[in-house]
Amino acid sequence: MVQISPSILTADFCNLGQAVKELEKAKADMLHFDVMDGIFVPNISIGIPVCKSVFEHTSLPLDVHLMIQKPQLYIKQFAKYSERITIHYESDCDVADTLQMIKDEGVIAGLTIKPNTPAQAVFDYLDKVGMILVMSVEPGFGGQSYIQSATDKIKVIREEIDKRGLNVEIQVDGGINFETAPVAAQAGADILVAGSAIFNSDDYSKAINQLKEICK
Ligand code: DX5
Ligand code: ZN
Repeated sequence: MVQISPSILTADFCNLGQAVKELEKAKADMLHFDVMDGIFVPNISIGIPVCKSVFEHTSLPLDVHLMIQKPQLYIKQFAKYSERITIHYESDCDVADTLQMIKDEGVIAGLTIKPNTPAQAVFDYLDKVGMILVMSVEPGFGGQSYIQSATDKIKVIREEIDKRGLNVEIQVDGGINFETAPVAAQAGADILVAGSAIFNSDDYSKAINQLKEICK
């Protein structure tokens, strides 16, 4: 069964605690925490203090997505609160070293690629990660439409993981809704990130259950 990682980027930040509690009750599998620095992406979101507060407020594991230019500078701080940390292949860091820093903190290391980066870019790192995140929108904003070419990338990466017999999960992030979720899941995604599809629904539990059901 696919896992659902609701992106709190779309939450009302004045009522974040309430939203987190509701997502817990709705049996989200983890919480997707989008960090943006205004340099790697043209938007600024939330950072370490909010991550700490959310961590202290919930039993759900945190799935931290770093859309920042120099992720290597902040791994230690985010690691205190994270189950998994994902860095961008396109960021300004030594990818292998930064993945190792994440693992050294006892955290699952994730690597992600933007829509214009080919799937093959992650091949050299497949034995160094616990998760690959395929971005199905340009990172920076919630509420965008799923870019169809992500589906093939998921397939290509899934094939390579299986061919090598590795235990690496695939996550997909951006534009996931009731139409696109089954497409991504069938292509081989294990974890679906969903912001708008959950936060724009009036019943988080129903939305999460439906997303899981239609992917079966
Ligand atoms: C985009 C973020 C996503 C986004 C998903 O930069 O990484 O996590 O919030 O939002 P939806 O589901 O609305 O596309
Ligand atoms: Zn994200």
